[in-house]
Amino acid sequence: MNIITVLGPKGGGGKSTCARNIAAAAAQSGLSVTALDTDPQGTLARWGVTRKANADLPVVTVQHIAIATAPEALRKLASDLVIVDTPTAIEEHPEAFKALVLASSLVLIPARPSLDDVVSVAPFAQVVHDLKRDAVFILNAVKPRVAETDGARRHLSAYADVLSAALPDSVDIQRAMAQGEGITERGGRGADIANALWAELRRRLRLSGGQS
Ligand SMILES: Nc1ncnc2c1ncn2[C@@H]1O[C@H](COP(=O)(O)OP(=O)(O)OP(=O)(O)O)[C@@H](O)[C@H]1O
Ligand SMILES: [Mg+2]
Repeated sequence: MNIITVLGPKGGGGKSTCARNIAAAAAQSGLSVTALDTDPQGTLARWGVTRKANADLPVVTVQHIAIATAPEALRKLASDLVIVDTPTAIEEHPEAFKALVLASSLVLIPARPSLDDVVSVAPFAQVVHDLKRDAVFILNAVKPRVAETDGARRHLSAYADVLSAALPDSVDIQRAMAQGEGITERGGRGADIANALWAELRRRLRLSGGQS
């Protein structure tokens, strides 16, 4: 079982957006997928309820749980892929945070490409590496043709790998999520990048099988 935990210290950086779109892309490619929402806000869980109402979409099993119970919940799962979405103030739960990182195959840290965001997010990779786990950054909500994106990539790459796929700032992504979908399922701006993102994650996790 592969476990991707999406975390970061910055509110609104795109944790739930990444978790939802990766879960959808993975399910679309034929994997069994569970998404654990450990944020009391329940952003991912709400998406799961909307998704479940559309029987045409590939199944993503969504559970809304307290972060303290996440390590125990993970032990009971047997999906091909589990995506864990986390609350912003994860450092307020040091024990659960540590156990979650230790249980993860990969920790994904989203960052918007602004100076404030990359500076606050970058040191989190070191925390993950200190626990001997793999951390990668993903740039999210990137605007077209702005120099800040390259600057953010350079800054973050001093701390950990930055995925090549950077999700664009896209209203189509928001529309897909509002329907319980991922952008790869609905199509529109960002669908090709989200497909490339899933392919990149798949290679990192050495996942085989599926359709894409
Ligand atoms: N690539 C994107 N394109 C368009 N809108 C985006 C994108 N990424 C995030 N957003 C929007 O930005 C807001 C915050 O994103 P999201 O909820 O994914 O962040 P988060 O890190 O989970 O936030 P929180 O810390 O509150 O849990 C949401 O309204 C979301 O729709
Ligand atoms: Mg969130």
